[in-house]
Amino acid sequence: MDMIPGRVNELALEPLQAGVYRGACAEFCGLSHARMNLTVIVSDPGAFETWLDHQAQPAAAPTSAAAEAGRRTFLDRGCSTCHTIRGTAAVGVIGPDLTHVGSRRAIAAGAVPATAAGFRRWIATTDAIKPGVHMPAFASLPDAALDAVASYLAELR
Ligand code: HEC
Repeated sequence: MDMIPGRVNELALEPLQAGVYRGACAEFCGLSHARMNLTVIVSDPGAFETWLDHQAQPAAAPTSAAAEAGRRTFLDRGCSTCHTIRGTAAVGVIGPDLTHVGSRRAIAAGAVPATAAGFRRWIATTDAIKPGVHMPAFASLPDAALDAVASYLAELR
């Protein structure tokens, strides 16, 4: 489909049944290629519009003291140089937009669940989870800062 220089091919998939489907990367894309999974969610048009409207909103404000501390950690410890969280001062574009990351099922191409525990594990050990990753591991962050930033991300629903 896509190895012919100068030629654009289109591939259309028509979902016929609502549900959650697993996909996998079909091209050798880097060191962690074998871990590149993706989830395709087929929903009815109404549910899709609701989801889309929600995703277009800026990030929710933190509701707990831990999440508020996590928001500050995120802005102070360099996360925001690589990531955007819409509605905050974080406008980095090297990593994925995290505005609604807490509403996701998983992060890191399906390797880690999008829960506070999952976020914490990811931030501290990116390179162990995904060799070749372009996000440095923040293993040197104090435990309290890791917990706080993980609760903040989990609230970004
Ligand atoms: C040097 C740039 C950089 C910095 C600094 C950085 N990240 Fe990342 N981050 C990335 C990249 C690139 C990815 C995508 C990694 C991948 O899956 O291969 C990523 C992925 C993530 C993900 C998973 C998102 C997804 O869609 O799978 C989260 C959550 C995250 N970063 C949080 C943080 C937090 C919290 C900090 C600060 C403690 C931080 N990042 C600092 C570049 C960065």
